[in-house]
Amino acid sequence: MSDQAISVRPASRADLDFVFASERLPGYEALVGRSGMAQHETFLEDGRHAYFIGERAGAPVGFVIVRDWNAADGCALVKRVVVTEPGRGIGRAMLAAAIDRVFTDTPCYRLEIGLFPANERARRAYAAAGFTVEGITRGRVFMGGTHHDEMVMSMLRPDWEAKRGLEPSP
Ligand SMILES: CC(C)(COP(=O)(O)OP(=O)(O)OC[C@H]1O[C@@H](n2cnc3c(N)ncnc32)[C@H](O)[C@@H]1OP(=O)(O)O)[C@@H](O)C(=O)NCCC(=O)NCCS
Repeated sequence: MSDQAISVRPASRADLDFVFASERLPGYEALVGRSGMAQHETFLEDGRHAYFIGERAGAPVGFVIVRDWNAADGCALVKRVVVTEPGRGIGRAMLAAAIDRVFTDTPCYRLEIGLFPANERARRAYAAAGFTVEGITRGRVFMGGTHHDEMVMSMLRPDWEAKRGLEPSP
């Protein structure tokens, strides 16, 4: 599947049912966080979060939530990424398109993403999208009443520029 087959667009209130259902797909409960509908509605409008819907031929195939969009310190976080058909190259293409939006639409310098160390599929998809492993933060994620280690990966603007074949920013 080519990257060109997947695009992202900003989400609207009407997309939240898809987001809500996708993060609750069977098998995902141990891999990714989930939010209540009221929480999603708040995030969508608060200016701190940016929601993107991944699409293939006009149909939704996943979503990406970026936190600290356009933050003053230039540091943003991919808070959540989910596709509905994993392992088919959709995640890396959707993420790459969302990354382009972050670095094109904001002056972001550092984009971070976290995952559970055992989530090999996510790590490989994120590496393919251009993220580099930084290390493990112990007990960083509190989920299901337990503290879990988190692997942190990041992409800096120069990494993105190099991947895109762009001239470095002044
Ligand atoms: C994480 C996620 C967004 C990645 O998207 P994706 O479309 O599955 O990823 P891609 O198909 O682009 O890449 C998957 C990579 O993992 C490999 N892979 C596929 N299935 C795998 C599996 N079961 N175990 C380990 N690796 C696997 C693929 O070979 C590919 O790596 P490669 O190109 O180096 O060979 C998606 O899997 C997902 O939504 N998972 C459920 C929720 C989740 O884990 N979210 C992320 C939380 S941090």
